[in-house]
Amino acid sequence: MPALGFGTWEMGGRMEKDDSQDERFIRAIKTAVEVGFTHIDTAEMYGNGHTETIVAQAIKDVQRNAFFITSKVRKENLAYADVHKACDGSLERLGTDYLDLYLVHHPNPDIPVKETFKALDELVANGKIQRYGVSNFNVEQMEEARQYAKHPVVANQIEYNLQTRNSGVFNRDMEKEIIPYCLKNNILVMAWRPLVKGELSEENEILQKLSEKYNCTPNQLALAWLLNKPQQATIVKATSESHIRENFAAADIALEVDDMELLDKFTGQ
Ligand SMILES: NC(=O)c1ccc[n+]([C@@H]2O[C@H](COP(=O)([O-])OP(=O)(O)OC[C@H]3O[C@@H](n4cnc5c(N)ncnc54)[C@H](OP(=O)(O)O)[C@@H]3O)[C@@H](O)[C@H]2O)c1
Repeated sequence: MPALGFGTWEMGGRMEKDDSQDERFIRAIKTAVEVGFTHIDTAEMYGNGHTETIVAQAIKDVQRNAFFITSKVRKENLAYADVHKACDGSLERLGTDYLDLYLVHHPNPDIPVKETFKALDELVANGKIQRYGVSNFNVEQMEEARQYAKHPVVANQIEYNLQTRNSGVFNRDMEKEIIPYCLKNNILVMAWRPLVKGELSEENEILQKLSEKYNCTPNQLALAWLLNKPQQATIVKATSESHIRENFAAADIALEVDDMELLDKFTGQ
């Protein structure tokens, strides 16, 4: 699958539909496609389904098999029958008859994992999804999912970026357990929010030095740092054309091992 994906969170509303800027967001997704993005990440939760309809409008004239589409089933819909219904809803809104990747958006301890994966396995069998994965799962939750899944759980989409912060505090805990677990088990790590939602702090000596060396921006460096890692993908969102072009070009930046190590040690200061 394409390691660099285009994100759609907040295009068409947050948890509720907001159609006031549809034209702007459709234009952004169309631009992403023209620039060369071939992977779009969305979810039934985004805009309460409206984001998926925006994606459909943006890609309606493009051949379906030129694209990799990821969507996600929300944690309230993880019961057996609800997973089937949710997937049908996403397919209808996206105007497609299959998803390339279907993720469990968040774990839900109130619904037995076994029934979620029974439904997901049936969706693979009937061709409505090509493969499945999870998002925001820790090691214990992944172990449980993999215990019931008949097919490989191919990916875990987690928050991961150069300056990952939890509650405002710099935090790379994901590098201690969940990422090594994914690497060991051949599971793709998909980093969400790779640019800290546009708030990557650029006033940093290492970022400035390496940006100069690679003739790129600090934001491109943040994407390249992820994309140069093994078994790593990332999903980046942008609405401005210059950002979309800048982000796509980051996929071509090959960082030297020493510079990867420098960024690995980055502390956010
Ligand atoms: N699985 C999950 O639980 C989960 C959670 C959050 C997000 N996600 C997925 O991951 C995607 C990405 O995360 P995100 O949207 O939260 O954050 P992000 O991609 O880190 O940041 C998006 C923001 O960064 C700005 N930006 C983009 N490119 C830039 C550049 N080159 N220079 C400066 N600013 C730039 C954008 O501004 P403009 O719009 O002005 O261009 C936008 O405001 C989401 O859209 C969604 O698909 C998944």
